[in-house]
Amino acid sequence: MALIRKSKEFIWHRKHLLGLRELSAEEITYILDTAKGFEQISTRSVKKAPPLRGKVVVNLFFEDSTRTRNSFTLAASRLSADVIEFTEKTSSVSKGETLLDTARNLEAMGVDIVVIRHSAAGAPKFLSRNINACVVNAGDGYCEHPTQGLLDTYTIRKIKGTLQGLKVAIVGDISHSRVARSDMWAMTKLGAEVTFVGPPTLMPAEVRQLPVKVSYSLDEVIDKVDVVNMLRIQFERLGGNPFPSIREYSHYFGLTVERMKRAKPDILVMHPGPINRGLEMESEVADGRNSVILQQVTNGLAVRMAVLFLVNQAAAQAP
Ligand code: CP
Repeated sequence: MALIRKSKEFIWHRKHLLGLRELSAEEITYILDTAKGFEQISTRSVKKAPPLRGKVVVNLFFEDSTRTRNSFTLAASRLSADVIEFTEKTSSVSKGETLLDTARNLEAMGVDIVVIRHSAAGAPKFLSRNINACVVNAGDGYCEHPTQGLLDTYTIRKIKGTLQGLKVAIVGDISHSRVARSDMWAMTKLGAEVTFVGPPTLMPAEVRQLPVKVSYSLDEVIDKVDVVNMLRIQFERLGGNPFPSIREYSHYFGLTVERMKRAKPDILVMHPGPINRGLEMESEVADGRNSVILQQVTNGLAVRMAVLFLVNQAAAQAP
């Protein structure tokens, strides 16, 4: 058990955050509640708190990132940790050094928490089994992006009050999306009904084994859902031609002003970023009154502070 009940309080025992699939609803709720407590640090004039003072966090990124990397950097800084920024392109990986040797060398410098993004699914789990530092998954292949799943869930809960009973559509390139998977695990565990929407060519082969509904038509679901999360088309991962043209994809699966006229008035429009404007959604929708896209980014900071705080706490308590 990663979590034990003690006098009606939970004690967090995971020193790694590898994915949301293995977390219980109680654990996910505990992270979100912890994040709520951290939110106010970002509103102070001095945006700092001491929990990670003296600790070292490394951002070990083997893929590009704007939101996740900078959000982890800021989260660690706000908790008073020292932060090392590792980028594959300027590292000795270009000379043939392995992932494990890279991590072990950073660990030898006293790193306490490794935040890793890697194109290989399972890379964070592999590291967690081979180093002593805490490991936090910042996105691994098509597998999971747990802090994105948590911040998306946090954003919905903050606005709607609960996930219980909500209908959520996750739209687009499901097969290449670690965000879709982490969102699915977190949101269904907290009681939402999730529908994956997209062309059959962008659905994972195992979709019928997942705890989701499936639709191949955005028009069929847009008037029924409380939340629509539009995924980025991952051109860098696409093989072959999964749809005939960008214009055709946008016609059937883009969130347009016209389509939004059929949506519930209080629908939340989400996107993990980066947005391909005019493809996944029109700019008027991305910047419109239902969009919570920048709130997702803001909330990500509190969520990542909570995650860093909790894994560090678990490591400190470990025998
Ligand atoms: N949502 C997300 O993972 O964005 P980045 O790739 O910019 O980190």
